[in-house]
Amino acid sequence: MSKTVKFVNYPKQYKMLKKEFDNVFEEIMSGGDFILRRHLDNFEKRIAEYVGTKYAIGVNTGTDALYLSAHALGFKPGDEVITVAHTFVATVGAIVQCGATPVLVDVTDDFNMDVNKIEEVITPKTKGIIPVHLNGHACNMDKIMELAGKYNLKVIEDAAQALGAKYKGKRCSSFGDTGIFSFYPAKMLGTAGDGGMVCTNDDGLARKLRAFRDNGRVDSVEVIECFGWCTRLDNLHAALLDMKFNYFDKWVERRREIAELYNKGLAGIGDIIIHPRAASEYFDVYQNYVIRSKKRNELVAYLRSSGVEVLISWPTPVHKQKALGLSHFKLPVTERISAEVLSLPIYPELTNDEAEYVIDTIRNFFKK
Ligand SMILES: Cc1ncc(COP(=O)(O)O)c(C=O)c1O
Repeated sequence: MSKTVKFVNYPKQYKMLKKEFDNVFEEIMSGGDFILRRHLDNFEKRIAEYVGTKYAIGVNTGTDALYLSAHALGFKPGDEVITVAHTFVATVGAIVQCGATPVLVDVTDDFNMDVNKIEEVITPKTKGIIPVHLNGHACNMDKIMELAGKYNLKVIEDAAQALGAKYKGKRCSSFGDTGIFSFYPAKMLGTAGDGGMVCTNDDGLARKLRAFRDNGRVDSVEVIECFGWCTRLDNLHAALLDMKFNYFDKWVERRREIAELYNKGLAGIGDIIIHPRAASEYFDVYQNYVIRSKKRNELVAYLRSSGVEVLISWPTPVHKQKALGLSHFKLPVTERISAEVLSLPIYPELTNDEAEYVIDTIRNFFKK
């Protein structure tokens, strides 16, 4: 019997928490609390405490969180900044928007930056590293911070997909000079639109980031400390996120349960490589559950025709996007992975029956 398994299911979450969502909306609308109000302040404090940083600064997207970080750290024309191509384009875009030059290194089979490839691309022009904690799995931050210390490099952690994930007991976004999150609806913690955050322990950076997000204003609307942008996390989004954050730990546990169902159900089927299993020093939150197959495209077509929504992130790695002028990078693992990966539905509201249907459908594909 065929059914539909959605890749994300926002209406289902709304139905489950309708009263709480509606209460937030009513509170914000009846109070007229729209911009830089106490709900944002509360939410920033909670995230900073959860992540383990002194500050968390709400901005309007993960993209802006990356760019404002890069700008606050002073990346400029002539500088080189190391990152990966197996990421959302915004990671690389933050470097380019500052006029700096992206230097792309390959990833390993866990989809994250190959930390053994970093040192060979460091030059006197290198100013920073942007590791991406992809799919809710932390990078090896010991190695990255060791290299950053050795070569005096700034580190921005792109934890857009990794709120809650840990490396050796420390949460993503608490290692680098800054770390960022995205609150795009499909993310670990998603709002009803766009949202982002920058975390830092540095007083000076925090002040700069606050100024950048609000046209140079920090303590007073009359004193402009610098030219900036208008990229605040709206108070309504902050209030929604704050309400949803009450469920966050439970939702992470549910994602980990679903991942375990997939791990067990998909092991040994066809040529499938299941989502990488993390060693004990990692705590994964499963923003995505990614499998690999050489028959990826046929499998995707079969899943979709059987009612299972899946996503390919990303079929074309950033350096292979013709318009971006980065095709001189040779990244064999990234290129192989992009031809094989596919993300299965995983979110707290997904039922065990739905996950079993996904597994059965994949099993049936390989029986054909
Ligand atoms: C790894 C990564 N970095 C950055 C971003 C950008 O976040 P946003 O969509 O909130 O701008 C995303 C979002 O897709 C992402 O997955």
